Amino acid sequence: MNKISMPANTFAIASDLAVNRIGYGAMRLTGQPGNFGAYPDWDGGKQLLQRAVELGVNFIDTAEAYGPGFNEELIADALYPYPENLVIATKGGINKPAPDRIQTDGRPENLRRGCEASLQRLKIEQIALYQLHRPDPNVPFLESVGMLATLQQEGKIRHVGLSNVTIDQLQAAGEITAIASVQNRFSISDRTNEDLFNYCTKHNIAFIPYGSLGAHPLKRGAPLANASGILAEIAHRHGVKPNQIALAWLLHRAPNIILIPGTTTIAHLEENLAANSIDLLTDEVETLNQMALA
Ligand SMILES: NC(=O)c1ccc[n+]([C@@H]2O[C@H](COP(=O)([O-])OP(=O)(O)OC[C@H]3O[C@@H](n4cnc5c(N)ncnc54)[C@H](OP(=O)(O)O)[C@@H]3O)[C@@H](O)[C@H]2O)c1
Repeated sequence: MNKISMPANTFAIASDLAVNRIGYGAMRLTGQPGNFGAYPDWDGGKQLLQRAVELGVNFIDTAEAYGPGFNEELIADALYPYPENLVIATKGGINKPAPDRIQTDGRPENLRRGCEASLQRLKIEQIALYQLHRPDPNVPFLESVGMLATLQQEGKIRHVGLSNVTIDQLQAAGEITAIASVQNRFSISDRTNEDLFNYCTKHNIAFIPYGSLGAHPLKRGAPLANASGILAEIAHRHGVKPNQIALAWLLHRAPNIILIPGTTTIAHLEENLAANSIDLLTDEVETLNQMALA
């Protein structure tokens, strides 16, 4: 009776690309430490990507910086020729010359180079969703966005997305070209970007939270998988794991959320995808909302 109705299982990015709301974040299929170098178990990585698609994943998030380059190559090696409905979202604007060196580079010429290199590695003629990985403090933000708009006009990008931005930046970018998606950190344990998320929901912009399992991008493990307290209690009630409740809570928050939990194991992949069928009760969602605010 007090079940909250779960929004639809799919969301159409920019009213154009319909994807299942649990996708896959591929960043972890890289060398370690630092998500640097080729994934050592290349064949295992291919199998995981193929299994994800088999299970209905049709949204995969990657970036030039992952590897760098190797992550996109692995995706192409595993999945090309791609199923028609598969959306591969990649990002540019970060160069990574060493595991511990992350260089933001939002200069237009670097974005063009990165976009063209991603097209080659992914073996495609157009990137369905190209995201600015992070605004570069040394380059006027709108110059970076302007280059994405140019690449879009040239047909190399279908839709433009942003990552690690503020509401002000999102609004300013929207004056230059339609912004289809925003990717910022957000989870039940980190609500720093709550206002940005609400803004995206209001404007029907896809919101793609990273770290949805509470992970640190450069460390292994998902803190929310081992959560205790309310999350564990609700998980116990549903006969599932706390990390699945953390994902289900996000899905219940709004229809424009697309999840990209990252994993290197098929068992975890399957567990994460199963969060799709967890129906939370209204009071459980309320309790979790309060917990996250605490
Ligand atoms: N835009 C950005 O700046 C940015 C930054 C970071 C990440 N991202 C994107 O977001 C995606 C996800 O981020 P993330 O990988 O850092 O964080 P995450 O999804 O919160 O967590 C991934 C970590 O959780 C573990 N895990 C996953 N499923 C699990 C399960 N069912 N049970 C127990 N542990 C589990 C994984 O280890 P196992 O391999 O052992 O499963 C991995 O270490 C990335 O792949 C990337 O596409 C974007």
